[in-house]
Amino acid sequence: MPTLGGLLKKRRTKDSQTLSKELQAGSTTNAHTPTSPITAEDTHHHNHEHHHHHNPHPSGNSANSANSANSATNITKQQSNQSTASKTTDSQTASMQSPALQPSSSAHSNSGHQHHGNAASIHNIIHPSQQNQPQASRAERSTKGKYMLDDFTMQRTLGTGSFGRVHLVQSKHNHRFYAIKVLKKAQVVKMKQIEHTNDERRMLNRVRHPFLITLWGTWQDSRNLYMVMDFVEGGELFSLLRKSQRFPNPVAKFYAAEVTLALEYLHSLDIIYRDLKPENLLLDRHGHLKITDFGFAKEVPDITWTLCGTPDYLAPEVVASKGYNKSVDWWSLGILIFEMLCGFTPFWDQGSPVKIYQNILQGRVKFPPYLLPDAVDLLSRLITSDLTKRLGNLHGGSEDIKSHPWFAEVTWDRLLRKEIDAPYVPPIRGGQGDASQYENYQEETEPYGLTGDDPHGHLFPGF
Ligand SMILES: Nc1ncnc2c1ncn2[C@@H]1O[C@H](COP(=O)(O)OP(=O)(O)OP(=O)(O)O)[C@@H](O)[C@H]1O
Ligand SMILES: [Mg+2]
Repeated sequence: MPTLGGLLKKRRTKDSQTLSKELQAGSTTNAHTPTSPITAEDTHHHNHEHHHHHNPHPSGNSANSANSANSATNITKQQSNQSTASKTTDSQTASMQSPALQPSSSAHSNSGHQHHGNAASIHNIIHPSQQNQPQASRAERSTKGKYMLDDFTMQRTLGTGSFGRVHLVQSKHNHRFYAIKVLKKAQVVKMKQIEHTNDERRMLNRVRHPFLITLWGTWQDSRNLYMVMDFVEGGELFSLLRKSQRFPNPVAKFYAAEVTLALEYLHSLDIIYRDLKPENLLLDRHGHLKITDFGFAKEVPDITWTLCGTPDYLAPEVVASKGYNKSVDWWSLGILIFEMLCGFTPFWDQGSPVKIYQNILQGRVKFPPYLLPDAVDLLSRLITSDLTKRLGNLHGGSEDIKSHPWFAEVTWDRLLRKEIDAPYVPPIRGGQGDASQYENYQEETEPYGLTGDDPHGHLFPGF
């Protein structure tokens, strides 16, 4: 059984059972939580003529009801002309639509200071000597997807993880907002994450999919690695789930279906994801999912051994330090669906990883009585240690999951084109760059953009 080594990540905040007890103590919640943004009281119908594009529907800030969510999996066509997967060729898109190189009206006339009250001060902390930056790295600008600190106005932290910190930023060139993940090289080296970090960049570079985050480019300075991604405005699915306690069946189904398509795509490229959990699933402004955090993604055509992931979500073959394959992602999909439907993970045990591992190896899942038979059936076929029975790992591959009765109403091709209404539209009022859906974090005090001694730079040649 593994010890809690550096390769295992923690859950974002307090676990769901503690939270759920607190919620129950504080307010009289029952199975249908009135506080849930998902289970809104009104049952208004979708107006399929409405495009939420730049001007969110007035009611868009409350969740569509469970009723409409019910139809979310089989409803009629809607807003199909939004930014579905761009048809551009794979690796070239970075330079074509790069934040730095996209045309804009006079580049520096409107750099983000005035938009966020606190931007200037944060900016000063983390970006103190912009003026003195050597211009040498300009030479790199001809390289695809190469940026530098001076291309962006750094704003607040959107999230922190075991290895990184993600900032909201604004491009000084096109004034659009992006998210930049910053990793301290010394920390990456200390935690033995060099290969994983290089893989994170390489894997993200290879993928283009409507439900996966886009990486625009990277760079490094003497201390840090930087990855420029799209800013996904709607916040973490984690936050929505904790607020809702648990999702109604159709809501969980919608998110699970989008994740299934993303995993199917990754596996078709022989990429294993290995860190599925609600903290890594972000909602875009229309409520569709984007999977972020490719920190453990890796090209694995057959089998691998590395122990990594997040305890609650680890498959038993990973816990047992056996060789494992892509089907660990399908196990995690089972854990994710369980957590969405129940509000807690099946092997959770008072926050103790060792107990969690024992439970995973024992493999006994208690299904709460409110779960529908179809859901229980799918979950038992995903959360099974028997690899000859685990759905996704059989001859039918991911098709076996997509054709399971629990997903019966899902029209997969429409879902992929984002023609299916999301069950919940995040309340983004502030327009572009509104980070209100993200929690606040203490800001980094060490300045970015330092030059000088760089003992680790050579370990990250792709950045
Ligand atoms: N593109 C993005 N847009 C907005 N927020 C993001 C984006 N990418 C990441 N985040 C936020 O930053 C958090 C941390 O990012 P990420 O998960 O990549 O870091 P990590 O160190 O690998 O995390 P962990 O240890 O939790 O797995 C995410 O959970 C999310 O809240
Ligand atoms: Mg993460």
